[in-house]
Amino acid sequence: MRVAILISGRGSNMTALIDAARAPEFPAEIALVLSNRSDAGGLAIARARGIPTSAIDPKIHVGRDDFEASIEAMLDIHRIELVCLAGYMRILGAPFVNRWRGRMINIHPSLLPAYKGLRTHERALADGASEHGCTVHYVEPELDAGPAILQARVPVLPGDDAATLAARVLAREHEIYPRALALVARSLAGRPSD
Ligand code: GRF
Repeated sequence: MRVAILISGRGSNMTALIDAARAPEFPAEIALVLSNRSDAGGLAIARARGIPTSAIDPKIHVGRDDFEASIEAMLDIHRIELVCLAGYMRILGAPFVNRWRGRMINIHPSLLPAYKGLRTHERALADGASEHGCTVHYVEPELDAGPAILQARVPVLPGDDAATLAARVLAREHEIYPRALALVARSLAGRPSD
């Protein structure tokens, strides 16, 4: 199962996926890392691990459809079968999402459906939540709304701020994203392609 990871930033989840996929029994191969920003830190990490990378600049395109057509072409060139969003910070259009439905997953730093969108850690702290966490889910056109594949919970501890809570959640993100990718890749491999 050939996988592309879409990133916009530092790429710590991307790194966790690449490293997990090196295990011989892992059911997916990271075949491409694609970023909408040429300065994304994750691109250098991916290149250092020998993964093909590409940066596609939305600003040189005439609109979202045009930009996403370029992404689609790059996925096609690399014969990608499954897409992982990992800190990819642009909203994807419904036509693109629908084409990849069931074959595109995302990690979100909250226990969805709680805290969709940004600043999840700050909002959990402001609510006085006693637990928080992260979710790997299928991507649907509505933001952060697709069916969950795996979740991990962490406690919110006295004295936590957004940075300490984010770090506790991120450590669990790095555990569940590779496990969720393996689950999805195995389930897709067992299904006749359409
Ligand atoms: C992670 O917290 C992820 O849950 C969210 O964006 C952040 C990306 O971090 N979608 P990284 O680039 O994987 O380090």
